[in-house]
Amino acid sequence: MVTASDSLSAASAISLPGALAWSSLPYVSTPSVNGPACLAEEWPVEAAPPDLLFPTGPIPTTNISGMQHIGKLGSGSWGKVDKMVDASGATFALKQPRAAHGDTTQDAEDQRESIAHEIHMLQLLHGHPRVMPMLSVVGVPVDTLQGKQLVRKTGLAFSMPLALGGTVFDFQKDLWLKGWRTPPLAISRCFLQAAEGLAHLHANRIVHLDVKTDNFLLVGERELGQGPLDFHPDVRMADMGYAQQQTMHAGTGWLSPHPAEYGTMGFASPELLDGHPYLDLYASDVYSLGKVLMDTILMVPPVMGNSPEGTFDGMVADFQRQFPGSWHEVENAWGGQHIRLLDMAELMCHPEPAQR
Ligand SMILES: Nc1ncnc2c1ncn2[C@@H]1O[C@H](COP(=O)(O)OP(=O)(O)OP(=O)(O)O)[C@@H](O)[C@H]1O
Ligand SMILES: [Mg+2]
Repeated sequence: MVTASDSLSAASAISLPGALAWSSLPYVSTPSVNGPACLAEEWPVEAAPPDLLFPTGPIPTTNISGMQHIGKLGSGSWGKVDKMVDASGATFALKQPRAAHGDTTQDAEDQRESIAHEIHMLQLLHGHPRVMPMLSVVGVPVDTLQGKQLVRKTGLAFSMPLALGGTVFDFQKDLWLKGWRTPPLAISRCFLQAAEGLAHLHANRIVHLDVKTDNFLLVGERELGQGPLDFHPDVRMADMGYAQQQTMHAGTGWLSPHPAEYGTMGFASPELLDGHPYLDLYASDVYSLGKVLMDTILMVPPVMGNSPEGTFDGMVADFQRQFPGSWHEVENAWGGQHIRLLDMAELMCHPEPAQR
């Protein structure tokens, strides 16, 4: 049985951010577990509390029991994403902390907190066609130490549709392995959708802080048809692990979050890398999206395209030096359209945040 105090104490242990009714999430404290961890199948399924609402209705909540793991999709700094199937045979992706449920280290706690935070962000962003939707909040078993006792609780994970086309990075890599350059039309289509996703975050006063090619998912098969020009992507912005919402304070107005960490080398803006993350975090996201655009045009890992000065010209010069043949292709293929797209990336990668 779940009691209100159980829910509240478990919620505060994970310290969920945000002003929504998070204490009503179906955290369950089950009796202390001293022997071997109980199997997920033995675990009670909780109904969704009626006051936990998506804009369109209640967030479905479910439990990992009854789901089967059928493959790995990816894993990163905080979470792992697995391919799962439920009792009805439906397949979906499940993101949960990387740590095993018996792991009581601080790192494991941080991972759990990050997933809880991501669920909160996804709830705020729900319903936009360019943001990866959360299908349901999924309860997963977590053993935490209370004194010397292991206590079984319900931790959080969430399910999403499977991105059958992988990530924009995967798409780019496949083309590269075939010896193709990403065609300008495919780049423009992907880029426009990616920008729409990021714009939805910014419209909700949320900064992403980890914009990169492998955080854009391609829903639907990556159908190349007769050639890459037939490519009709369905790009979704994903991975809200670092995302932060600005908050309103009486007297001072909107305050930017102070991220303790920033995203990924090669995509992070120069001001984030220099340790001045408080200038304009929206502009930092724009810089990273500019790097995504550069990356899909030049098709090299972004770190290789990073000049010491971090300027666009420096990055291009660096690329020209390292890959003279490729630069020639970038200049000449498709009537120089790549170069025109690079002009846009140049604007977005301006070293001055205010100029982007
Ligand atoms: N819905 C999905 N369908 C298919 N693959 C997915 C899905 N969600 C995530 N992935 C894969 O899992 C990888 C990791 O997911 P995600 O970026 O959300 O986790 P992360 O731990 O925050 O990763 P990182 O710190 O590396 O950015 C993605 O780059 C992608 O390859
Ligand atoms: Mg990621």
